[in-house]
Amino acid sequence: MEKWKTDKIIQDIELKGWSYQQDFVDRHTLESLSDLFYQEFSPARVGKNQLLQREESIRGDWVYWIDPLDPPSSLKFATDFLNHLKEGLNQAFFFGLRDFECHLAKYPPGTFYKKHLDRFEQDSSRGFTFIFYLHSDWTEADGGELVLYDKDGRILETIIPRPGSFMCFLPGEFPHEVKISHKERWSLTGWIHTKNLY
Ligand code: OGA
Ligand code: MN
Repeated sequence: MEKWKTDKIIQDIELKGWSYQQDFVDRHTLESLSDLFYQEFSPARVGKNQLLQREESIRGDWVYWIDPLDPPSSLKFATDFLNHLKEGLNQAFFFGLRDFECHLAKYPPGTFYKKHLDRFEQDSSRGFTFIFYLHSDWTEADGGELVLYDKDGRILETIIPRPGSFMCFLPGEFPHEVKISHKERWSLTGWIHTKNLY
């Protein structure tokens, strides 16, 4: 992991509400965590609580939830960084961010996640979205771009998920989608909440 880039991220959040950092996780770290993606994942579902269901026409990824208080040692760099970033965001913007939840996500070839907002209507406690891209190779031809929209549906940015890059944004502001991925796509994705989760 390179030096924490929290100052740059905080500056980006203030200016535009999102930040993308390349070369965030070094190759050695990426290699050290690849084993995690060979565990048994569960099909990701859509909706919340009792209404959760598998809907492959909406999202086709598979997930493995991580306990942020007891992460696998190869992910400790990420949970340490997130705690650090959270403090920085709270100091800069008084966001009142508290606990976070996160999962590994695996998109098999041919899968995608249709345009959505990361905030639920009934529960707006997701205060910050983050994604680390953890596959070791990726080219433009592999697809799987993250497309960020504004509220009027205009494309703001198309992010190629470069190995070891980091993306974050304000979850209530940006509808986004994951384009069809032609190669298995790996990430650690999560949300920092404005309430306590544990
Ligand atoms: C999500 C999501 C984006 C990505 O899991 O909610 O939008 O690039 N992920 O993986
Ligand atoms: Mn999302």
